[in-house]
Amino acid sequence: MCGIVGYIGDKKATPILINGLLSLEYRGYDSAGIAVIQNNEICTFKDKGRVANLQKAPELNNLTSNIGIAHTRWATHGKPSKENSHPHLDNSNNFAVVHNGIIENYNELKEFLSSKGYKFLSETDTEVIPNLIHYYYTNEIFEGDKFLQAVKVATNKLKGSYAIEVISKLHPDRIIVVRKDSPLVIGTKATENFIASDIPAILSYTKDFYLLDDYEYAVVYKDHVQFFDNTLSEHSKPVKNIEWDATSAEKNGYEDYMLKEIYEQPNAILETIGTRLKLGENCCFDDIGITKEYLQKINKIYIVACGTAMHAGLVGKVALEKLTHIPTEVDIASEFRYRDPILNEKTLCIFISQSGETADTIAALKLSKSKGAKTLAISNVVGSSITREADYSIYTHAGPEIAVASTKAYTSQIVLLIILAIYFAENLQSTNSSVLNNLKNDILDLPTKLETVLTETENIKDFAKKVYNETDMYFLGRGTDYAVSMEGSLKLKEISYIHSESYAAGELKHGPIALIENGVTVIGILTNPDLVEKTISNIQEVVSRGAKTLIITNQNITNNNFDFVIDIPETNNLISPILSIVPLQLLAYYISKYKGLDVDKPRNLAKSVTVE
Ligand code: AGP
Repeated sequence: MCGIVGYIGDKKATPILINGLLSLEYRGYDSAGIAVIQNNEICTFKDKGRVANLQKAPELNNLTSNIGIAHTRWATHGKPSKENSHPHLDNSNNFAVVHNGIIENYNELKEFLSSKGYKFLSETDTEVIPNLIHYYYTNEIFEGDKFLQAVKVATNKLKGSYAIEVISKLHPDRIIVVRKDSPLVIGTKATENFIASDIPAILSYTKDFYLLDDYEYAVVYKDHVQFFDNTLSEHSKPVKNIEWDATSAEKNGYEDYMLKEIYEQPNAILETIGTRLKLGENCCFDDIGITKEYLQKINKIYIVACGTAMHAGLVGKVALEKLTHIPTEVDIASEFRYRDPILNEKTLCIFISQSGETADTIAALKLSKSKGAKTLAISNVVGSSITREADYSIYTHAGPEIAVASTKAYTSQIVLLIILAIYFAENLQSTNSSVLNNLKNDILDLPTKLETVLTETENIKDFAKKVYNETDMYFLGRGTDYAVSMEGSLKLKEISYIHSESYAAGELKHGPIALIENGVTVIGILTNPDLVEKTISNIQEVVSRGAKTLIITNQNITNNNFDFVIDIPETNNLISPILSIVPLQLLAYYISKYKGLDVDKPRNLAKSVTVE
């Protein structure tokens, strides 16, 4: 959470910093600020509220500096206020710092600094950092680069997670950056360098990036970047060329990123299928290096993730178990990491994360490795932390996902998991090839079928108009339809703030049916031909108690007791979630619009949860 940007080069820094912040607002938006070095002084501008608010400050127009750092905040320590906004300065105003992450031992550090006479102006954990740098800069005798050494000694005292940028008026030709468990990239060009929490924020300036590792320091000058490890020994680092084009990170005429991303799903699925699946050939994941011998050894698979990515895992579990017959469990990363899971070399742990930077998922991955399991990362971001930690990595190719509510990443994760399950099954010969071939055909048809589902938008919008004032909604399904109902319910909560819950349809009568009363909205997902009759019976039970119903189905439902039915194309039940989730994404979207809410930046949420 929190977004950071930096610029050093031959242009004015302020507009570049502000643009970067605007595109990073999805990471936090309760306050924003910038610091530049102008006339040998650090000038900061910061305020509570969104970047647009900061942008209005007339003083920004007078800043001609070519070096600066900036921050958009998602409050952890201290309320959203001007004082708590970043950048934070040390008491002598020599150093300015922006920080993404959490300093867990900041109280201890604050006490140490207070005992040395330092004063604190904010309630944040971050403010200890510039003061620590100042303390070591002035009190320790360093040989060589004093600035870098002071930053290093100071950051070595920090416990927690951080991506930090530091500027100093004593060294106005450089920005020092370091990270641990929080994302940070450096975009590079001949005479300017850019720093950001993620690639899209600076993608319009360059496609060449350095991806910083944990405990790695970069000293960023206008025309070159130096890299150091934690002993300050210098090393070189390859530039990575990023294929995304800048317009894919813009709205392209859509009112919101979320709507654009919902509509991008046919293409995201096509790109994710890529060359991994072709008719008449075995699926191809040979590039990731999982050997047939290892596959034969696996006796347990865990899929570990958070939120929407975990919901994608629930569908992946059904596919993996059905096609490979390997017992597969899905775990919430924040639970998995603390429950001492039983893992060994025969366990494959799959970690799914759109951003690849989710703190709990990364911690769960590290734990699995330490217990001897093999780890496979699925991410949408090339070079993200989980892909660098894992033994094996594969990518969804959904393109940048900017809206906080995940849509195209979810469907891409499911398709990739299912292709992976087919690949495993082909290698293990655990499923009849005609079953696999039929499934492959169905996967290849998904982009066209998704286009068909998207033609239902107006109908869904009509339903949204009828229900947007409701306070509670319930989602029901069985099997993979239950997995989809969980995701549909999460989408609705996230962006419409309507209370909603999802239940396995058969579980309703064991308690939750007590909540059903006249007029309450119940959404049923019915795509599994083997279970459809049973789910219909459960939905009848709520209809007879006065519920208003929306049914998403690919079955021929003759019953006309339901208020609203959205028909979607028929497909294999393992992949039907990729189609049936789309009406639910659109429903959440339009309800949020009718309520006049900020769809892309829902309250209290951030796109990338890099804190525990
Ligand atoms: C999705 O709509 C949510 N914003 C959230 O649940 C998200 O999926 C979760 O935080 C995991 O993120 P990741 O995929 O980047 O790890």
